[in-house]
Amino acid sequence: MLDKTISVRDTRPYSGYHNRPAPNSDQYITQVMPGTPGGEYLRKYWHPFLLSSELKDLPVAVRLLGEDLVVFRDKSSRLGLLHRHCVHRGSSLEFGIVAERGIRCCYHGWHFDVDGTILDTPAEPETSKRKHNLTQGAYPVREWQGLIFAYMGPIDDLPEFPTYDCVDHPQDNEVVPFRMSMPCNWVQIVENGSDPMHNAFLHAIVAGQQFSTAFKVLPQLDFPETPLGFLSMATRKVADYVFVRSSDIILPNMGQFPNGGNKVDQESVGIRPFLTRWAVAVDDTHSFYIGFAHLNSYNKSVRKMSRDDFGVDKIPFIGQTDNRPYHERQQEPGDFDAVVTQGAVANRNAEHLGTTDRGVVAFRRMLANAIKDNETGKTPIKPKIYHHGPVSTYAHEIVLKIPEGVDLSDAKKLSDFGHQAAMAFVEFDGLPPSERELAVQHKVKSILESMSTTR
Ligand code: FES
Ligand SMILES: [Fe+2]
Repeated sequence: MLDKTISVRDTRPYSGYHNRPAPNSDQYITQVMPGTPGGEYLRKYWHPFLLSSELKDLPVAVRLLGEDLVVFRDKSSRLGLLHRHCVHRGSSLEFGIVAERGIRCCYHGWHFDVDGTILDTPAEPETSKRKHNLTQGAYPVREWQGLIFAYMGPIDDLPEFPTYDCVDHPQDNEVVPFRMSMPCNWVQIVENGSDPMHNAFLHAIVAGQQFSTAFKVLPQLDFPETPLGFLSMATRKVADYVFVRSSDIILPNMGQFPNGGNKVDQESVGIRPFLTRWAVAVDDTHSFYIGFAHLNSYNKSVRKMSRDDFGVDKIPFIGQTDNRPYHERQQEPGDFDAVVTQGAVANRNAEHLGTTDRGVVAFRRMLANAIKDNETGKTPIKPKIYHHGPVSTYAHEIVLKIPEGVDLSDAKKLSDFGHQAAMAFVEFDGLPPSERELAVQHKVKSILESMSTTR
């Protein structure tokens, strides 16, 4: 599965001939097509795939998990997601005519409801049983906060549609949808979020000042598990402050990320992430990340933004697409350039991981275990299934002034503080958002004070 044969490297200079990459033989966690273990696992979850604003009065052809589909809103405002090719003789329903109820194929007029039921086969004789013994393939669809989601698994396993605390936050909450195309496998997108060290190098030290200068400080890393997956954490001592930045990695393909603009010059403890996003597979070698930007006062105080900055292939950070001149991408590369050039499916047999890749390893292990559980008929333990209300999530930022008598110059101590502080977000995850924020603030401050050597 994920085991690799450790190859012996030739360490002489100019040893290219002797060190050519091993072939990419391990696709267990990356395959998304129907019938593959990974594809069947992903089909057990709801995935967003389109902005509501992209779906107007005409059908839209989409490709998801290697299947060609068409989505439309009928004239009664009901959403349908159908196999793209008509069950009669295969014409594409992207050229179907949207009806009061469902959609009608342009070729011979077969009429389908949003759930795939055949309402009419007008070219067939009255006595035809065709419409009773066939259906057009269809998948359940949900719309939430400006995104359209699909469930593409077995209908008997249809899961509850989960909502999330940060997106449904009761106060000071404006969520703005976006979707960004990535011509590579979906796992690379999640791995990028599981790798906080790249924030220091790609976004601050090597490629350009894309995040705040605080990110130049090399962090202590930690990857504690949560009920949903794990936190991808970086803890830094920045001048007189301690700065914890933790992203949610939520199985199978969701993540939440604080913004990169925190200057670390005033205290704050925020549960709210800046981006909530899913890495969704189009097929094995094409994906997109899609989700919400949170334009609340917390994030807007760090970075100036408006709704118009987000949309389809539009997000206000450098390096998230290939639509810059090539030489500019070379001069100041961003996430797109780093992640997509790992390969259409990154060759994990040719990698040589370091100790700071622990988050990437953790994600691969959890993903492989979840796929294996699904393959053997078990329900994966992560993400924890919640009922009754929004799912509590864990992404956060903490900036606190280091009190007198507390010395966080020791790496281990700094890391311990970050870990304990993050666990406070897990400890209070049963509280409503505002109460939880207060409880965590209180706890985190007392953890920091308790680290004083003069007490
Ligand atoms: S191909 Fe669709 S009705 Fe004939
Ligand atoms: Fe990044």
